[in-house]
Amino acid sequence: MFLPDIRFCTVKDLDRIMRVEERSFDSPWPRDLVRRDLSGDTAAIYLGAFGGDIMLGYAALFPCEGGAELASIAVLPEYQRRGVASQLLLGISEVAVALGYGRLRLHVKVTSEGARAFYEKYGFTSIMLKPGYYEGGADALLMESELPLKI
Ligand SMILES: CC(C)(COP(=O)(O)OP(=O)(O)OC[C@H]1O[C@@H](n2cnc3c(N)ncnc32)[C@H](O)[C@@H]1OP(=O)(O)O)[C@@H](O)C(=O)NCCC(=O)NCCS
Repeated sequence: MFLPDIRFCTVKDLDRIMRVEERSFDSPWPRDLVRRDLSGDTAAIYLGAFGGDIMLGYAALFPCEGGAELASIAVLPEYQRRGVASQLLLGISEVAVALGYGRLRLHVKVTSEGARAFYEKYGFTSIMLKPGYYEGGADALLMESELPLKI
């Protein structure tokens, strides 16, 4: 178990978030979109996990129709399986509860078995298959859990 510092991100974290994005996803989020979120122009909330100056991972919470969505969570490959995402998810859960949300949802690629195992460990269940949800046509599962999460 690794104990990173978990804190809210600001626009100063943009480069570090993009580095995690680019190393984690085939289609990283556009830099301008993330910058807009971090500038406070949207209701998005980003938490970062830090080991000193290194951002090990981050998670993003977006309000959505009827609740809150964990829009992204990613940890640098060399820091995975050390509990970093679990601590980010705990932080996101606490922020969402503080904002008054009772449920948290997310989308995950059907083929991302590791991510699905991670979410299932913390009580998320699949509620809907969304064929062709992702750019490139991959299918998504919509998963959901009550808040607070049991971490
Ligand atoms: C999914 C992801 C965020 C998990 O991050 P992490 O820091 O490695 O997760 P944790 O160490 O907190 O894992 C907690 C538990 O979740 C489960 N888990 C996590 N990754 C897993 C994997 N690849 N395979 C199976 N189970 C996994 C395990 O039960 C793990 O506990 P254990 O290590 O004691 O067995 C990380 O693999 C990642 O960044 N993947 C690429 C980006 C991505 O797919 N994000 C999800 C988008 S929907």
